[in-house]
Amino acid sequence: MPVLQTERLLLRRFKLSDLNDFYEYAKDPAVGPDAGWDYHRSKDETLFLLKKFVKSNEIWAIELKENSKVIGSIGLHRDKKRDNKSARMMGYVMNSQYWGLGYATEASRRMISHAFDVLLVDLVSAYHYPHNDRSKSVILKCGMTHEGLLKSATVTYDGRVHDEHCYSITRDQYENNTLSAGV
Ligand SMILES: CC(C)(COP(=O)(O)OP(=O)(O)OC[C@H]1O[C@@H](n2cnc3c(N)ncnc32)[C@H](O)[C@@H]1OP(=O)(O)O)[C@@H](O)C(=O)NCCC(=O)NCCS
Repeated sequence: MPVLQTERLLLRRFKLSDLNDFYEYAKDPAVGPDAGWDYHRSKDETLFLLKKFVKSNEIWAIELKENSKVIGSIGLHRDKKRDNKSARMMGYVMNSQYWGLGYATEASRRMISHAFDVLLVDLVSAYHYPHNDRSKSVILKCGMTHEGLLKSATVTYDGRVHDEHCYSITRDQYENNTLSAGV
């Protein structure tokens, strides 16, 4: 997994020493549930997941260059809603102390470039629950287009059924977009 850089961020593999930073946002009820997972009640729960992340080739830690703190994560996964194995689904969470500063957008734009330029995917998708306007803003600022609302698309950890707004950017759209020029 290569280390990816942006102006303010490093996207890199998780390390076990990221436990405190990871727990800081994993225990926040404002963060996990909007990404589909329950908030963590103990550091052991975070450690269990962190051990998986350390080995994962799909999840990057989002590290602030200025102080080396991990303030979130971003992933590129197989998109289970599409048969095409060359489609990747992007997902992210950020520590709520750092919301509204453009970090998720900065990380997402870099991840999309990596997906098309290095992983050579056909398409990158993203999904958000209908109430999640913050994520909607990030997705739109990354040049993705709205495909529609998929009804009763997912069941979360607590058994609730959610619709999901679906977005994507295709290779053609990416190559005709300023993102590919690094702007
Ligand atoms: C979604 C999330 C990653 C965004 O992170 P972030 O670093 O704050 O994102 P950015 O700063 O790049 O952009 C946030 C956008 O939301 C907007 N925003 C902030 N508060 C908002 C609100 N209450 N309602 C609507 N939009 C809001 C910001 O203005 C900004 O858009 P703009 O630049 O067009 O003004 C973060 O809120 C988060 O971790 N949420 C919980 C987990 C989650 O929802 N993950 C995504 C699952 S699909």
